[in-house]
Amino acid sequence: MNTKILKIDDYSLKYSKNLIEAKELVAFPTETVYGLGALATSDEAVKKIYEAKGRPSDNPLIVHVHKNYDISSLVFIEHGYVKKLQEAFLPGPLTMVYKSKGVVCNTVSCGLDTLAIRVPSSKEAQMFLEYVDAPIAAPSANVSKHTSPVTSEHVFNDLNGKINLILDGGKCEGGIESTVLDVTTETPIILRSGLITCQMIKEVVGKCEYASGVSEIVNRSPGTKYSHYMPKCQTALFTLDSLQDAQNYYDECVKQGKRTYFLCYDGVLKYLNGNVLNLGKTATEIASNLYFNLLEAEKICDVLIAIEVKTGSEIDVSIMNRLSKACKSAIK
Ligand code: TXA
Ligand code: MG
Repeated sequence: MNTKILKIDDYSLKYSKNLIEAKELVAFPTETVYGLGALATSDEAVKKIYEAKGRPSDNPLIVHVHKNYDISSLVFIEHGYVKKLQEAFLPGPLTMVYKSKGVVCNTVSCGLDTLAIRVPSSKEAQMFLEYVDAPIAAPSANVSKHTSPVTSEHVFNDLNGKINLILDGGKCEGGIESTVLDVTTETPIILRSGLITCQMIKEVVGKCEYASGVSEIVNRSPGTKYSHYMPKCQTALFTLDSLQDAQNYYDECVKQGKRTYFLCYDGVLKYLNGNVLNLGKTATEIASNLYFNLLEAEKICDVLIAIEVKTGSEIDVSIMNRLSKACKSAIK
């Protein structure tokens, strides 16, 4: 299969609609990361997502819809606070998990009685979803376990030959995946942190909690037990109070002839001496640059030495959730 990368225009939108209706896959940009889309009402189409990514069959998918789509045709809205959240944050990087009406095929939610729905805010995602005008199941458009893609080139590097079309919308602004929020409970529960934070949700509806403990998260969101976000180079993650150890480790790697880089944010630059992939200053900037730099690292590094991010923003939690998983192959 020949994988095309096309800018979004009348031709590529028409082509993507034909592919989706023919139960094929289309990768598309969103404001968080690129998604790998399939018709959510077709078992045949959704299975192709799992095959192309090598995704475990018990890791459910998010359904994406355009901003005028009637979400209540797919799910039950059980609690009063949900409407307020929809008004405050949609379209945007907040995925909500509702009780499903069973309209999309079972494969999307892996047999769970819930359904995760997202209304992305990026212009390109909206154009694609509006043109197709159907619920689109879409995980991040990477091979399972690998870093999520934030450019069409990243998608191509992972999925070339496995899909027909990548819609190109440049670099994704947000840079990390949406917040996943369970809204089937009295109090909304964060299953995956993101750019919409617990505090932001509390400000709108007065209540919100992080899922407590690994077992609760895995029970409610089975996919979280798997490895994620890992670049194809050696990695190590050091805390802010062990910067000297990080420097010693860097020096040792260089002595061994390994191409070595630090991955860190602006605030710690002055304490380190060596090659740097700089994530930037503010938490939103760091999130936006995180996957891009992890994927850059695998082109230029043998060893990537990441440093803990602590800017004081609640988004640090979301960044560290990704960074610690990305560095799971950590040697230190
Ligand atoms: O920003 C995003 O959310 C991106 C873009 C493409 O929209 N998508 C994305 O999808 O990150 P994926 O498949 O890589 O991650 C989906 C997450 C997983 O942690 C999965 O377990 C959770 O959402 N999830 C999906 N359906 C669920 C459900 N019914 N109940 C609980 N968790 C669910
Ligand atoms: Mg993913």
